[in-house]
Amino acid sequence: MSIDKELSEYTAKTGRSRVLHEEALAVMPGGNSRTTTFFDPYPFAIQRGQGAHVWDADGVGRLDFNGNYTSLILGHAPPDVVKAVQQAAENGLSFPGPTEYEVRLAEALTRRVPSVQSIRFTNSGTEATMNAVRLARAFTGRAKIAKFEGAYHGTHDWVMVSVSGGDGKGTGSRKRPKPVAWSSGVPPAVLKHVVVLPWNDADACAEILEEEATQLACLIVDPMMSNAGLIPPVDGFLARLREITERHNIVLIFDEVISFRTAWGGAQERFGIRPDLTTFGKIIGGGLPVGAFGGRRDIMDFYDPRKSGARISHGGTFNANPVTMAAGLATLNALTPEAYTRLDALGERLRGGVTRLLAGTRRKGQVTGLGSLFWLHWTSEPLTDYRSAKPKEADAPMRVFLGLLNEGILTTQRGLGACSLAMTDEDVDRFVNALARVNARA
Ligand SMILES: Cc1ncc(COP(=O)(O)O)c(C=O)c1O
Repeated sequence: MSIDKELSEYTAKTGRSRVLHEEALAVMPGGNSRTTTFFDPYPFAIQRGQGAHVWDADGVGRLDFNGNYTSLILGHAPPDVVKAVQQAAENGLSFPGPTEYEVRLAEALTRRVPSVQSIRFTNSGTEATMNAVRLARAFTGRAKIAKFEGAYHGTHDWVMVSVSGGDGKGTGSRKRPKPVAWSSGVPPAVLKHVVVLPWNDADACAEILEEEATQLACLIVDPMMSNAGLIPPVDGFLARLREITERHNIVLIFDEVISFRTAWGGAQERFGIRPDLTTFGKIIGGGLPVGAFGGRRDIMDFYDPRKSGARISHGGTFNANPVTMAAGLATLNALTPEAYTRLDALGERLRGGVTRLLAGTRRKGQVTGLGSLFWLHWTSEPLTDYRSAKPKEADAPMRVFLGLLNEGILTTQRGLGACSLAMTDEDVDRFVNALARVNARA
């Protein structure tokens, strides 16, 4: 089936969503508040989620491998989290002061992640990376930051440079990518302060980092390239980055907004690297708005209002609100070592099933991922960096996304997906079988 046929089946099933979308267009540009969730001709409106499923405005149910972009590690509305939210909410929704919930969630995170000695909460991953970058600048007295081509770290200006559009297109040479604004409105001055690196090319990275070292405040790294294809770091790559940054006093920031879900102590535990700072989001809020940044105490102390000197002010009306903190705590409590074993098994079952399926078809594809995360790729090239993830046919990811929607399965438009603890082995097999049908009719 062509993408047009998948689209017409989709629109035939989603009449109520179309009506809502048309109403929404009158009051919101594009009809919603989140570019990432929009797709042409309109995204379906979601009415309800329970366990591994969501239901749309027309009452159609779908097995959810999106999980609000990997946030819902326990699935939708897990009873213990809902109960914790209700209890917290009954005692007040937000306060102009700290609560015990905040202390307990901070303790839980610092216990899990030894590199995080001290932590602060925000309302989004974007705010977390923004504060981490500012902190690195304050700590080092340097202005530039380095990031990888394709990597996404949220929507503040400093990181909206050379980001993945999911298209695998880079700018400049592969070994020396050129910084490009990912959005209009990012001022040219930003581009002068952002150094872009090629993923998995340690020698090229070393050369650029050595050249820029005296001006670089930080290197921000998503250790799994979570939004640019889940392309694993080659052996020794992250260790080399750690060594160079340490030698030059460049603050190494691990952006674990997504990758934290891959292990008790996050991807840094899995890869055995100790960054200076870490940013969090998604699962640590149990489904409510959240972010956090933390790390070395001597660096985080810039946020201590009791200390004098060049300190950083960090307001935020809803930072660490008790309802989010309670939801986050209840979620982390459910994430036992056994839970990670189960999540790994679900992810492996899915990746194994997809790999076997693709080996036997003429569609050239592959699947990457770690733990409960996966990414469907539509190229047979070896996957080493953002550019190598470019799909052979540009519309393949969207065709597969729509095809899966028509099969009653929700993923993301670009190919990223996640298993949740609400899923069974049969749910995973359902995914693989649905993908087989989507591919067979392409
Ligand atoms: C790696 C990474 N960093 C930062 C962010 C930004 O988080 P938020 O959407 O909560 O602002 C995201 C969001 O998807 C992310 O995946």
